[in-house]
Amino acid sequence: MAKLVAGNFKMNKTKKEAEDYCAELLTLLGKGYNNFLICPPYTLIECVKRSLNGRGAVGAQNVALAESGAYTGEISAKMLKDVGADSCLIGHSERRHIYGETNDDIAKKLNLVQKEGLKTILCVGETLEEHRRLKSVLESQLSVLNDKDLTNIIVAYEPVWAIGTGKVATSDDIIKAHTIIKKYVKDKFNSEISILYGGSVKPENISEILALGVVDGVLVGGASLDAKKMAQMIKSAK
Ligand code: 13P
Repeated sequence: MAKLVAGNFKMNKTKKEAEDYCAELLTLLGKGYNNFLICPPYTLIECVKRSLNGRGAVGAQNVALAESGAYTGEISAKMLKDVGADSCLIGHSERRHIYGETNDDIAKKLNLVQKEGLKTILCVGETLEEHRRLKSVLESQLSVLNDKDLTNIIVAYEPVWAIGTGKVATSDDIIKAHTIIKKYVKDKFNSEISILYGGSVKPENISEILALGVVDGVLVGGASLDAKKMAQMIKSAK
């Protein structure tokens, strides 16, 4: 089965750049590849949805902590759905570490996104300093899943020390973390969950990462901004 290639644009691209990107991506892909998700900034969700012309899927990078009301500058899950988002990232390490999001915040966001019927990509991962406590750190981040219906949720394991640094986790690191996540879900829910790996993924290393039996797809930052690289990765994941 094709594995998912999710691109997180972070705070990059204007409308024109996004339109050109989507057109180039679709041309490069030709027919038959739908195993991808683009998470552009909020301002481009509608544009990317339209420009992809029914191909792939579109996700948001974040969501507000409340359903509506006096929260200047925030965007609710309902608004994301309204402009065509299919899914939403929750708990990205940049949200946790730059904006101080806690597991409590992430649990609330998860509820709001699920209520709107959007697919949720829960991001988890340890800092370098937390690496020795990998199991307990991941289990604490995964605890937001407790009591949830997992059908519409996937997990992205992104070791913070491998994001934007060019340092890819070793095969052993990835297998170890993905195994901890799978076991947590098996023990708590008696079920399975898809897990993406993220952190300096690029065309040159994607095949090796996807060949590890425990990886169901990838979440890509920097390399996803280039349509040629994105197309190459999507094709490698088929
Ligand atoms: P890079 O691929 O740039 O390391 O970013 C990973 C990431 O944070 C995706 O969400």
